[in-house]
Amino acid sequence: MQRATGLPMSFEQFAIRAEGLSKTFAVYERPLDRLLQLLVGASRQYGKRFTALSDISFSLPKGQVLGLVGDNGAGKSTLLQLICKTLTPTSGKLEVHGRVAALLELGAGFNPDFSGRENIYLNAAVLGLTQAEIEARYASIVEFSGVGEFIEQPVKTYSSGMYMRLAFSIATCVDPDILVIDEALSVGDGAFARKSFDRIMALREKGATILFVRIRCTTLMPSAIKPFGWRAARSKCSVRRGM
Ligand SMILES: Nc1ncnc2c1ncn2[C@@H]1O[C@H](COP(=O)(O)OP(=O)(O)OP(=O)(O)O)[C@@H](O)[C@H]1O
Ligand SMILES: [Mg+2]
Repeated sequence: MQRATGLPMSFEQFAIRAEGLSKTFAVYERPLDRLLQLLVGASRQYGKRFTALSDISFSLPKGQVLGLVGDNGAGKSTLLQLICKTLTPTSGKLEVHGRVAALLELGAGFNPDFSGRENIYLNAAVLGLTQAEIEARYASIVEFSGVGEFIEQPVKTYSSGMYMRLAFSIATCVDPDILVIDEALSVGDGAFARKSFDRIMALREKGATILFVRIRCTTLMPSAIKPFGWRAARSKCSVRRGM
């Protein structure tokens, strides 16, 4: 990728850089096979290998917005989990520069038995905020989430919309360098979806890099879609820059 000046971009200007990234999972036909594998280690294979991502290469400059589009099972969530380091690549290189805040599948990162308040402290601490920083932001996190008095209840009693709103509010209140969103906004109602879109745009104004996932590409401009790995390329949908 080149800058407008024609000079190559330097290392620091990239938020995410992937080179030949692949992820293979072991799939077992019987639970016993999984157990045997755990016991014997790598000396013998009891399962089959399934390649979810194969040879993915891309660079995302800081401050850009990137949309990933692909059919169910195309590997979108796998890629996001690699970026968030909840999965490790099987091969290839992946560089991620900056604090990543993620909205992966619903409720990921929440302890269901903890209250909303406790989950705010837990999540914000995991994202690197100090106790004083969390306290300074606590009221605005609760206010934006709109969960009101339910904030003192265990999050397992929340509706999926409330869960998602609290997770979104935490992820975006901590000033992330990179915000990763996996279909999460589709659970919110119309008013919250608009409010969250505005917040994402505000983060973008402040220079955050944003990576989001959608299943369908019908609302995207066809000219903006680029081939992205063999699975997504095969399903015709893939990468869009801009939002
Ligand atoms: N832990 C795992 N073990 C085995 N296979 C897995 C695992 N995680 C994902 N896969 C497989 O990898 C493929 C890609 O999954 P992934 O969740 O990344 O797809 P996706 O593009 O996010 O799909 P969706 O649109 O349904 O969310 C799927 O075929 C899935 O079954
Ligand atoms: Mg997914």
